Amino acid sequence: MSIQEQKIKELIELREKAKLGGGARRIESQHKKGKFTARERIEMLLDEGSFEEFDMFVTHRCTDFGLDKETYLSDGVITGYGTIDGRLVYVFSQDFTVFGGSLSEMFAAKICKVMDMAMKVGAPVIGINDSGGARIQEGVTSLGGYAEIFERNILASGVVPQISAIFGPCAGGAVYSPALTDFIVMSRNTSYMFVTGPKVVKTVTGETVTSEELGGAGVHSSKSGVAHFVAENEEEGIMLIRKLLSYLPQNNLEEAPIMPCDDPIDRLEDSLNDIIPDNPSKPYDVKDVITAIVDYGEFLEVQRDYAHNIITCFARFNGQSVGIVANQPKYLAGVLDINSSRKAARFVRFCDSFNIPLVTLVDVPGFLPGTGQEYNGIIIHGAKLLYAYGEATVPKITIILRKAYGGAYDVMSSKHLRGDINYSWPTAEIAVMGPKGAIEILYSKELETLEDQKAKDDFLLRKEEEYKNKFANPYVAAKYGYIDDVIEPRNTRFRVIRALQSLATKKVVNPPKKHSNLPL
Ligand code: HXC
Repeated sequence: MSIQEQKIKELIELREKAKLGGGARRIESQHKKGKFTARERIEMLLDEGSFEEFDMFVTHRCTDFGLDKETYLSDGVITGYGTIDGRLVYVFSQDFTVFGGSLSEMFAAKICKVMDMAMKVGAPVIGINDSGGARIQEGVTSLGGYAEIFERNILASGVVPQISAIFGPCAGGAVYSPALTDFIVMSRNTSYMFVTGPKVVKTVTGETVTSEELGGAGVHSSKSGVAHFVAENEEEGIMLIRKLLSYLPQNNLEEAPIMPCDDPIDRLEDSLNDIIPDNPSKPYDVKDVITAIVDYGEFLEVQRDYAHNIITCFARFNGQSVGIVANQPKYLAGVLDINSSRKAARFVRFCDSFNIPLVTLVDVPGFLPGTGQEYNGIIIHGAKLLYAYGEATVPKITIILRKAYGGAYDVMSSKHLRGDINYSWPTAEIAVMGPKGAIEILYSKELETLEDQKAKDDFLLRKEEEYKNKFANPYVAAKYGYIDDVIEPRNTRFRVIRALQSLATKKVVNPPKKHSNLPL
């Protein structure tokens, strides 16, 4: 064997060693938990054979606690780039078989390298998290490593899409890197996220709680709103990430890819002509409207299990990616409250960052009243959504399906917040408030003078009727040009597609500033 051949053999052996991570026993233990290894996850995520690995030969530099005698090639995180549907992405995947996936100085440096590369070339970053947190033996260099990643997450925010998968533990300050990214996908029953774990909770508050109850996928998708997607298992989570990316551009200077579409653009949906119930208090499912108008009836819901009173989803119109925000009359009558405002605001800002047009479907009775909302700051949280819409410069198309009452009319991508094309269905009701509340305020004095209940009821009915005739229609708003046209519901798909086409060259720039001071 020549020297060169020997050296190549050595390289191949080193590669094989690196691929074993923390060793066969730990790989087996990972599989027994129903989890894949870091490399298996990358293989599933990327197009076959597309992965190019960096830093396989990196090891930690720690000599404390006997670590100088325990090193593993790659040091617990696999990094590099590859493609998804032929499009470049950068990835890192934490390897639980090496020191429990815990983060060392060099581990962090590897992640920072791929993030820097992604920023240089303008490609998304996908991070797969499965880690015991800061590597305890390393101390402050590990903490420094985390902050180096945080800083990059912050600088990359709004420049390249960042997606986090949580497929195992993610605890302590480690949660903040995923929290700074655009989307978090959690696997059910095998992942958890919390700032302090059950043991600390027990010591500090006396509360007994399991990891799942404290920070499992169910909790973060429905209660905290931290997770945007829950997958039943890792394969599903990875497919979801691939699908999500298909709706997104590579970076903030590009447009999302246009998909081939043979769903006719002028497809009439007769069902929409009688979807709105005669009784304005009766609900319907706005998802039926979305299904009816988008390409092939397909959409990807974001935060599906959180704040059900508003729907946020990606979909396509004639192959073009859009973000849809829709009040959901099926839950709490589609009212805007703290959670729905925060959910929609973040989604609107994401779409605006990445040049994804917004389509807003409005059926909102107003903001949710009550001390619960006021004490928790509905003023600030509602302002977030208002701010997000007002700030957004992407094409904004709004369709009022039924109610658009009060401040919520303004907030939901109204003409006054630079809505580009604002349509309504003939069933729209646009006013300061609903008829009942309005009449009680407008005619309180007259009502006091009426003694018997029947007279009061008759009076109320008559006045409500008058109010409805005046405001429970789109034509007052249309008279002022606040609504560009009143459209036939079954024709909505066509009208939205035409609107998107007309706005393809839209250019609006906000005033120069260091950054905005949005109501946090
Ligand atoms: C070094 C660690 C480690 C860590 C786990 N390991 N966490 N090594 N630093 N943080 C090692 C274990 O010693 C073990 O090594 C292997 O990883 C697997 O761990 P197990 O405990 O056997 O696995 P499991 O029972 O599945 O439990 C996983 C776990 C637990 C829940 C993550 O290991 C754990 O609680 N670890 C500590 C978590 C923690 O407190 N981290 C610090 C958080 S504070 P062997 O050799 O046996 O395979 C933090 C601050 C970040 O992260 C601040 C950022 C700003």
